[in-house]
Amino acid sequence: MRRWRTLLATFAALVTALAVPGAAQADTSVVGGTRATQGEFPFMVRLSMGCGGALYSPNLVLTAAHCVGATGTNTSITATLGVVDLNSTSKITRKSNYVYRAPGYNGNGKDWALIRLASPATGLATLPTASTTAYDTGTFTIAGWGAASEGGSQQRYLLKATVPFVSDTTCNSASMYNGEIIASNEICAGYAAGGTDTCQGDSGGPMFRRDAANAWVQVGIVSWGDGCARPNKPGVYTQVSYFSSAIATAASSLGG
Ligand code: ARG
Repeated sequence: MRRWRTLLATFAALVTALAVPGAAQADTSVVGGTRATQGEFPFMVRLSMGCGGALYSPNLVLTAAHCVGATGTNTSITATLGVVDLNSTSKITRKSNYVYRAPGYNGNGKDWALIRLASPATGLATLPTASTTAYDTGTFTIAGWGAASEGGSQQRYLLKATVPFVSDTTCNSASMYNGEIIASNEICAGYAAGGTDTCQGDSGGPMFRRDAANAWVQVGIVSWGDGCARPNKPGVYTQVSYFSSAIATAASSLGG
């Protein structure tokens, strides 16, 4: 069931990736969000297969495993960086040259991957990953160019929202995901009432918050959910703290 949803979501993201944003959704996306301002989240990346990502280092983008294919040479992905408006003439674009997908990824958990850019994107702030569980609680920021409503079109302008942490126990309760959450490596966020969430096309993008020094730190990767913004169906995110040392090891092996 989980795997089916993720695959369906990926398909939906692919077929809608190039859609022109709907006029009726000008100011809401990420479902229940508002427009991010230029430069507010300089690490946000849009990927050509219809996913999001975060700039991990000048030449590496952290995204979701379900957004990419198997580990190996891959020159088919275009990353767009440095803009909130995907049609902006000042956008930075980079081709991929390699994909590293989480070892053992099979559609259930371990939903992370690194994409190496053919040349570094300099001058943009990167987003550090949380290396402990210290920040795996509180209020999180989500952002992306994905659908503004369940089944809706992809967005031209980056949208953002905030969502509260939902504990694994609550997220796995009968009224929510009834045991489907992998507590060790997934983290849930959203309102019980619904209304605010990531959605198709936001996958791979970061969920983040401020650390003790008031700097942004990445705590999640958009992974899956039952629909978007439905009551009692929080968004489910890869728990970055659990994978941060594996991500760092992979990053150094990729030269980034
Ligand atoms: N898997 C989706 C994608 O490919 C993201 C789904 C997030 N869903 C949610 N309700 N938070 O874009």
